[in-house]
Amino acid sequence: MTTIYKYILLLSTISLISACTGDKTPSKHSEGTPLSEKISEGKELASQSCTKCHDSSVYTKKDRKIKTLSSLTARVKKCNVNTGAGLDEEELADLTLFLNTSYYKFQK
Ligand code: HEC
Repeated sequence: MTTIYKYILLLSTISLISACTGDKTPSKHSEGTPLSEKISEGKELASQSCTKCHDSSVYTKKDRKIKTLSSLTARVKKCNVNTGAGLDEEELADLTLFLNTSYYKFQK
């Protein structure tokens, strides 16, 4: 009984992981986390850590500096370091996802 349960658990874990392999850089911790959950997590982080110096209008202003997804990723990392927000890799990924989904809308 226990062995069968483990087997089923293993199978469902494998199918969850393979469902995510379309993503080139899957985050270690977030297999199976729904996209909408990651985005709302990112939104939360942005309102906690990123509104001291600028509001969301810097992401939408006409002469914004960020033009690609990779520079957005880099900028979020840099702002994290500069501001001592202390976010981990997964939180940075969620935050970048939120910014891109809500404001920048870069294709990969
Ligand atoms: C210590 C102040 C400060 C904090 C806190 C801060 N930023 Fe910034 N950020 C800036 C400044 C200054 C700019 C440049 C604004 C401009 O170009 O008008 C900027 C610009 C940006 C841009 C680029 C906007 C563009 O031009 O497209 C992004 C993206 C960004 N910040 C993300 C973040 C994120 C994510 C956080 C939270 C981790 C954060 N910032 C927290 C100071 C800060």
